[in-house]
Amino acid sequence: MKKVTVVGAGNVGATAAQRLAEKELADVVLVDIIEGIPQGKTLDLTEAAPIEKHDAHLTGTNTYEASKGSDIVIITAGIPRKPGMSRDDLISTNAGIMKSVTEQIAKASPKAILIIVSNPLDAMCHVAYDTSGFPKNRVIGMAGVLDSARFRAFISMELGVSVENTHAFVLGGHGDTMVPLPRYSTVAGIPITELLSKDRIDAIVERTRNGGAEIVSLLKTGSAYYAPASAAVEMAEAILKDKKKILPCAAYLEGEYGIQGLFIGVPVKLGKNGIEEIIQITLAEEEQNALKNSADAVQDLVETIKKLQ
Ligand code: NAI
Ligand code: 2OP
Repeated sequence: MKKVTVVGAGNVGATAAQRLAEKELADVVLVDIIEGIPQGKTLDLTEAAPIEKHDAHLTGTNTYEASKGSDIVIITAGIPRKPGMSRDDLISTNAGIMKSVTEQIAKASPKAILIIVSNPLDAMCHVAYDTSGFPKNRVIGMAGVLDSARFRAFISMELGVSVENTHAFVLGGHGDTMVPLPRYSTVAGIPITELLSKDRIDAIVERTRNGGAEIVSLLKTGSAYYAPASAAVEMAEAILKDKKKILPCAAYLEGEYGIQGLFIGVPVKLGKNGIEEIIQITLAEEEQNALKNSADAVQDLVETIKKLQ
């Protein structure tokens, strides 16, 4: 069985561990700094295994010994936002956590593919990339799959169709400047621009942009985790099974989409080597400008991190 380490045994990390094990995708090592939490959660999940019918082994730990030689490491360690906070407010705390986690992961699993989840997502990818020294195909950010899933859920609610019929692309940074692309979002292959009025599309796009904040305002004590965990696990599955699946992920761009030296959400092909290709789709001028605007916002955060160091 392959091995996946999940760092951070909080809401997203524990839910991702559960989904990985229940889909029998890999043995799972769950790491957290709080003593007892990863051990307790993995024991609980292990006791569910006979009922859920899987033989994945789960290990909870406060060190990186058991995670040695992981194929994939999903990093969810960090603090989530509370009502009134933006993802960007988390930057200084989470940058420190990301650096220390990545240093330990790079030692324990030098060949692993990193899936970054902690916020602010695109900036945290930079910290993991710089700290690990891993090649760019092995550092991937999770945001677009989640934002696109939200977009798909809202399209399906609006049209009363199966979620399985929906496809959607949300590019750009994982923040207020994200770029949902209605032209490339379809129901059974039909662009939603043919099925919905501009007003309705605008409303769905707006709800997607605020998707994270909508959940925070309801939960009050933290942020979303079921859909984020599903999204990270979909990426892990594509890599573990070498599916060559095209998904929107934060990738390090070197000139693609006219963006240089920055992590930002674009469509990529995921397979056993991580990001195997960056897919370049043609954007209308307005869409390209929105992506540029989003890239500028990510660049500002990257500069903020540099000043913190
Ligand atoms: P949480 O608070 O439930 O869990 C975070 C866990 O990280 C805690 O158990 C904490 O003890 C642990 N942790 C802190 N420092 C650590 C360290 N140095 N080593 C190991 N573990 C450490 O938070 P939740 O809801 O699981 O969210 C985790 C992160 O993911 C947050 O930054 C959140 O904003 C982000 N997030 C990102 C999404 C995305 O689309 N990229 C979606 C959802 C959440
Ligand atoms: C979300 O979009 C908080 O980034 C997280 O739900």
